Amino acid sequence: MTQDATQKAAKKLFIKTYGCQMNVYDSQRMAEAMGAEGYVLTEDQSDADMVLLNTCHIREKAAEKLYSDLGRLKPLKAEKPDLKIGVAGCVAQAEGEEIVRRMPLVDLVVGPQTYHRLPQMLRGEAPKILTEFPEEDKFDHLPERKVTRRAPAAFLTVQEGCDKFCAFCVVPYTRGAEVSRPVERILREARDLVARGVREITLLGQNVNGWHGLGEDGREWGFGRLIRAIAEIDGLDRIRYTTSHPNDMADDLIAAHRDIPALMPYLHLPVQSGSDRILKAMNRKHTADQYLRLIDRIKDARPDILLTSDFIVGFPGETDQDHADTLRLIEQVGFGTAFSFKYSPRPGTPAYDRPEVDSAVADARLQELQALLSRQQKAAQEGMVGRSLGVLFEKQGRLPGQMVGKSDYLHSVFVEAPDAQIGDLVQVRIVESAANSLRGELI
Ligand code: 5AD
Ligand code: SF4
Repeated sequence: MTQDATQKAAKKLFIKTYGCQMNVYDSQRMAEAMGAEGYVLTEDQSDADMVLLNTCHIREKAAEKLYSDLGRLKPLKAEKPDLKIGVAGCVAQAEGEEIVRRMPLVDLVVGPQTYHRLPQMLRGEAPKILTEFPEEDKFDHLPERKVTRRAPAAFLTVQEGCDKFCAFCVVPYTRGAEVSRPVERILREARDLVARGVREITLLGQNVNGWHGLGEDGREWGFGRLIRAIAEIDGLDRIRYTTSHPNDMADDLIAAHRDIPALMPYLHLPVQSGSDRILKAMNRKHTADQYLRLIDRIKDARPDILLTSDFIVGFPGETDQDHADTLRLIEQVGFGTAFSFKYSPRPGTPAYDRPEVDSAVADARLQELQALLSRQQKAAQEGMVGRSLGVLFEKQGRLPGQMVGKSDYLHSVFVEAPDAQIGDLVQVRIVESAANSLRGELI
């Protein structure tokens, strides 16, 4: 942008984020990159000079949302021909030029590893479609992080990509091979966030517990060791991480759950299925029993830990017996909550061409599984009533004097606290469990 242009009124950027927390993080970083070009965020799409859709490709429905949203942008583009429309994220990575062919109103397409070049693309100094996996690291080219609004909880990407190649999953193709960010960059970003008032950091990665790197002591560090280093930052009260693979739950990471008070007693550990046959067909490389024994070890280290998971029903070849095995595993573990999905065949993945389970059968299984998981969620929430928990206030509630925050176990908690501020970490007694939240009273 020329100096002349930067002196004009700020341009407005609208970003819509689909999918996972890494996309939320990427959207923030894209907003910062565009901020350096004079763009400010707007919440009003019709007011925007640029609309950026940061997309998800994990299931067919997620990907199709992009095209219906682009269709809805046609009248706005007709009204404002200068409006720039960009598609970022995993659909951009997977479909590239196809997006522009199908929707010519799209001005630029940028993958998850190239978005640091968005400003160049806008200036016409880079191709309009950028989806390669570049040699360079985007984090070396992004502006310093700016935490604009006072937000006490932040995400920090430490690892990207996945080498696991589960038979149903597009992530190894859209996000690429596993890459760990260097220790010193992670620590610098974490310290910076804390200096700006952040009290809780969630470490992000598609396979976050596969993170490894050369430590400050010259030794190879695993993820548990990284958490120990981050926990030493003064003023950082809480650490979380997501998403993990069971096979990368190293001893040191399990021990960190025992030793580090700032590491919250919550773990999202997807298992996908409780049937060994299906786990094998999914290429998960562990059995149901290995998962259960791992859970035992984690609970030995941190008995109060709340576990959550992901499940896929109707994976090709899944029988009633396989489904029953999954329900049994869920009964055995007792999850705090879980995400469950009907299998969606994704082009380019090994399972794509396999014969599908009857759709109505898969629907019925999904309902049964979700009913069980809802009962477990309710039980877990009700188990919190009467307990005294830490709550980090993240925003004001709808009622006067009310604050909303997250408990140690990541439940949303509503508290009457007229004198409290966003960013306060308080002790609260839980007095009631509602549908998807808890109510607490200040102690
Ligand atoms: N179909 C259905 N669910 C999927 N997931 C990933 N790929 C698919 C697919 N093809 C689910 C998995 C994963 C979560 C992020 O999305 O459960 O853990
Ligand atoms: Fe996808 Fe997770 Fe399997 Fe990697 S480990 S292929 S991200 S489901």
